[in-house]
Amino acid sequence: MALLNVNIDHVATIRQARQADEPDPVWAAVQCELAGANGITVHLRKDRRHINDRDVRLLKETVACKFNLEMGMDAEIVKIAEKIRPDQITLVPENRAELTTEGGLDCVGQLKQLTEVVKRMHQKGILVSTFILPDEQHILASAEAGCDAVELHTGSYANAATDAQIEKHLNELRDARDAALTAGLVVHAGHGLTYRNIRPVACIEKLCEFNIGHSIVARAVLVGMQQAVQEMNNLIREPF
Ligand code: PXP
Repeated sequence: MALLNVNIDHVATIRQARQADEPDPVWAAVQCELAGANGITVHLRKDRRHINDRDVRLLKETVACKFNLEMGMDAEIVKIAEKIRPDQITLVPENRAELTTEGGLDCVGQLKQLTEVVKRMHQKGILVSTFILPDEQHILASAEAGCDAVELHTGSYANAATDAQIEKHLNELRDARDAALTAGLVVHAGHGLTYRNIRPVACIEKLCEFNIGHSIVARAVLVGMQQAVQEMNNLIREPF
């Protein structure tokens, strides 16, 4: 059965809109967990645009399910991850002006740095996943670096406008899943997934973990976090 990690960055984004102390992502994480989320994901960005160091520290103390820290490979952030020891890190590319994570990590071009980060994380007992485009080269490089998992970028699927494009991107995800499994990697997926487009992706066998943020937090604003998480979990667990 596929698992749902809720990305709660946007809760912190609302807090930062007023540089206030609410809504607290730590409270949101509790609600997600009570509603059946299997994991909590946050992205500690170098610019601390939403999630900050205090959030990561408190989430490490309070999250009882899987705590997945999204991060770039910047030296400062790598040191924080070593100190905090989340259950898992997901390595992402990070650009200053982006609205959200754009594209996948260049595991081929950054193989040396990636291998070093994986080694350091494994020394602390932290699992490592890379957020990549569904492309065999980056899958093989992730395996070569010693990663435990890859998170396949579902953004192109989510943005596809026609049935033919949707099918093309689903096939790419299936092929990437096969390549990752053959390389001995666990396969996650995420980005741009919504209540409307999750079903076909959730039907892909052996995609075992989904990271979903925007659509869940957006729905939570209107129906409450627990209901929003339950509704997404129902779709992931019974997508047929
Ligand atoms: N996975 C990764 C690696 C991401 O960077 C993000 C966005 O923070 C997500 C999943 C979640 O994407 P969305 O907010 O579109 O659900």
